[in-house]
Amino acid sequence: MSLTQAKDRIKKLRDLINDYRYHYHVLDESIMSEAAADSLKHELTQLEEKYPELITEDSPTQRIAGQVSDSFTSVAHSSRMLSLNDVFDQAELLAWQKRVAKYLELKENPELFGDLKMDGLACALRYRDGQLYIGLTRGDGLVGEDITINVRTIDSIPLTLRQKIAGEVEVRGEIVMYKKDFARLNAEREETGQPLFANPRNTAAGTMRQLDPRLVAERNLRFHAYDISVYSEYLVTNEQVYKKLNQLGFIASKSAKKFASVDEIMEFINKWDLSREGLQYNTDGVVIKLNNRGLYKNAGIVGKAPRGAVAYKYPAEQSATKVKDIFVSIGRTGAATPVAILEPVVVAGSTVQMATLHNETEVSRKDIRIGDSVIIQKAGDIIPEVIRPIIELRTGREKRFFMPENCPECGVKLTKQKEDEAVWRCPNPKCPARVSNLVQHFASKGALDIEGLGEKNVMALLDSNLIKNTSDLYTLKKTNLLDLERFADKSADNLILAIASKKNPPLHKFVFGLGIRHVGAQTAVDLSQRFKNLDNLGVATYDELRDVEGVGEVVAESIIAWFSDDDNIELLTNFRRLNVWPQAIKQTTASGKLASKKVVVTGSLQTSSREEMADLIRSHGGIFQSSVGKDTDYLVVGVNVGANKLEKADKLGTKIISEADLNKLLEA
Ligand code: IVH
Repeated sequence: MSLTQAKDRIKKLRDLINDYRYHYHVLDESIMSEAAADSLKHELTQLEEKYPELITEDSPTQRIAGQVSDSFTSVAHSSRMLSLNDVFDQAELLAWQKRVAKYLELKENPELFGDLKMDGLACALRYRDGQLYIGLTRGDGLVGEDITINVRTIDSIPLTLRQKIAGEVEVRGEIVMYKKDFARLNAEREETGQPLFANPRNTAAGTMRQLDPRLVAERNLRFHAYDISVYSEYLVTNEQVYKKLNQLGFIASKSAKKFASVDEIMEFINKWDLSREGLQYNTDGVVIKLNNRGLYKNAGIVGKAPRGAVAYKYPAEQSATKVKDIFVSIGRTGAATPVAILEPVVVAGSTVQMATLHNETEVSRKDIRIGDSVIIQKAGDIIPEVIRPIIELRTGREKRFFMPENCPECGVKLTKQKEDEAVWRCPNPKCPARVSNLVQHFASKGALDIEGLGEKNVMALLDSNLIKNTSDLYTLKKTNLLDLERFADKSADNLILAIASKKNPPLHKFVFGLGIRHVGAQTAVDLSQRFKNLDNLGVATYDELRDVEGVGEVVAESIIAWFSDDDNIELLTNFRRLNVWPQAIKQTTASGKLASKKVVVTGSLQTSSREEMADLIRSHGGIFQSSVGKDTDYLVVGVNVGANKLEKADKLGTKIISEADLNKLLEA
């Protein structure tokens, strides 16, 4: 290929990749599969490697230039980044509108513009002649931090504006982490034993302050624009601004719109209060501005906020209450967790009476005492958390919390595995709290999925000595249950049937259900695929275990310890005697469309959950793997895929297919 040809091809590839990005983020549609877009990116990278003189800063390959910085420099904002005054009800909103109208000497109430208030961090992006050249945090409003290297990795931020605008343009908006990306990130951290993040906003803010842009690129943050510095006869209203932002290549909320009156906007506010759970990102209210930008500007600034805009805040997701007591809860692996018993309080629409305090170190770090007034917080479906004590309200009668020396459930001395570990554990495997949690875990959805074995029923079975462990569940008779107050004829029948129907569960579900420490749902799947049946797993050597993807030292040792323990050996003997045994995975004679094909799935899927997809693949004889290896046959790519897996698959020559391709393959 000649230089001229390469130049031409590079331009076409860049345009096509940018079009793909724009359609995907802004128009919510796909002009080609992600795999196809990735292969175009790959071709572009290769061409640019061959002709480095043709690399430009705005090439889609240059999002992660890879350099790590020591610190961020401070840069003055072009105009102050303001905050907003809050209103909490319709009356306050009306009063605001009246004040503005009076200030501007308007005869009629001005038209309004409303958008959801995104819970993220504000960011200002500057473009010169259509090219992104700087990204700033809000900072103190006057001076922000230069986070350009991180901003460039965010795929929903165009490096080049889609319409040529000469000179300087600044676009402002919010960087957010979508709830699904937050959930996935925390799930990964949980599985790898890393501390969990508190909420999407803090995670997004913390991520943008990382000095390594590669880390930012992995986190899949988004930018939603809400303002532009340009004025023109076509940009008189905020409604026009949002349309323009879309045309330039930004996500600007499609639900944002103009309203003729406060009554109308109240409908919008109330509608979203009911349905905001379903949004991709967290919102804590609605931003209301004058739709006319000239009026907005003329209204000026009061303090640090524009007079022409307010934030209508939904009832706070934080609340103040009192810690009545702190008790220690023992989990199925023996972990002793301090839990605060609270005076009941409504947060984010539900009543909260308990909140986890994580561990002893956290309690002393936050200095939470029994009797303290505290601020608690609940975000989405995250477990309520005690943020801090309200020191000003202390009376002096508050009591410090000390971890008990002995397990509150069985009295055995609590231990720490390592001196520096934060978690105390009850080492007694027969501890009733541990057994109860283990039985509940065994019966839970991700494991054997036995309906009717919630906390209360399990406690009743344990208290009446009908069961002592999981295998005893299979010895239960209807008459045993009828002796208990909790069961009537029908509920007893149902439970016995539910248990009996789970005598030969899939291997990975059973392995997960055993509750081996450090063996999460995915590890259980990986182990099952490698060892095919429970007997093989039980005699696996340390090296064989370490050979399995994702099994490190700690996990391998934990598995060996579990299978060497006398009580566990007895448990397995009981299961076998009762004809309760997981199904073995058939050797390569598997039939089906994917017979013995190894498949990895990456990104979020459109037609099913990951777990459902894994089951679908297995049901067609395929082997579901968690990461791409030499032997992987297919990499199925959903949306929002990280570059790593794709690169690896590409290097290894793994066939990359879309979710639709896979479904077609299975239908064929
Ligand atoms: S309009 C004066 N629209 O809220 C700035 N801001 O309290 C008003 N925010 O830091 C800008 N979502 O980053 C606007 N749809 C939205 C917003 C929004 C979130 C943030 C903004 C600012 C804060 C103001």
